Amino acid sequence: MAERAAIVTGGSSGIGLAVARMLGTQGYKLTVAARRPEKLQGAVEGLRADGIEVAEVAGNLADEETIKRVVADHRDRYGRLDVLVNNAGIGIGAAVGETETKKLDIQLDVNLRSIILFYRECLEMLRAAGADHRKALVVNTASIAGKHGQAWLAIYSATKHAVIGYTASMNHELAQEGIKSCALCPAYVDTPMTDFVKGQVSPEEMIQPEDIAEAVRFLLSVSPQCIVPEIMFIRPGDAL
Ligand SMILES: NC(=O)c1ccc[n+]([C@@H]2O[C@H](COP(=O)([O-])OP(=O)(O)OC[C@H]3O[C@@H](n4cnc5c(N)ncnc54)[C@H](OP(=O)(O)O)[C@@H]3O)[C@@H](O)[C@H]2O)c1
Repeated sequence: MAERAAIVTGGSSGIGLAVARMLGTQGYKLTVAARRPEKLQGAVEGLRADGIEVAEVAGNLADEETIKRVVADHRDRYGRLDVLVNNAGIGIGAAVGETETKKLDIQLDVNLRSIILFYRECLEMLRAAGADHRKALVVNTASIAGKHGQAWLAIYSATKHAVIGYTASMNHELAQEGIKSCALCPAYVDTPMTDFVKGQVSPEEMIQPEDIAEAVRFLLSVSPQCIVPEIMFIRPGDAL
């Protein structure tokens, strides 16, 4: 394969780490970004031990300057971007009457605003990749909560609905330039994010992070003419 490079946000654990590992083993040079530096460092060391070329940028992706730093760092190091994985996300449960503005803002900023800003900051490199091979890919991790409203997770659910909508718009706006976008919509995945529910649903009953990584591998394998706007991942018994 010709040289390829990817950015994965939220790449320090769970779904992002599994996708980063899949991309790295496929030969992609990586930049991974996440909030906590020590956790990110540990993940990066694990990837390097597998022979993957990877750089890391730690910081809060609710902050526009951090996003600019991630993209500038990646551009300076690799000079190209073929795959952007907008995966960092946060869910904070609360009843509607107990909505705290700070918790509202962090979910809007990380789950939605950061994706919009990453598209803007990465557009030039994505356009170059699209012109080169017509298979530039942006993967946005939404959620099954982006397909159905969820009580006590209403803000999270709203941000994920918005991610699906934004992804659809990006396909209308950018697909002709060889830039494809896909929203991933999983139900429970066995990651630290679902620790809160593991008393009721065991990790073995959950979707595995590697299942999501396999879906990204599939997205990379289809022809330039084939756009997959979203993928749902549900478990036996889950509502469609
Ligand atoms: N697990 C599920 O059941 C499930 C289902 C549907 C959708 N999702 C979505 O999948 C994505 C990945 O979640 P996961 O399940 O893999 O959980 P996870 O293991 O907790 O990973 C979340 C990642 O996002 C990063 N992150 C969170 N807030 C950030 C911030 N403000 N700035 C920078 N990085 C930040 C985390 O870094 P730190 O740990 O350092 O904060 C971590 O790398 C999220 O968008 C989530 O909404 C998950």
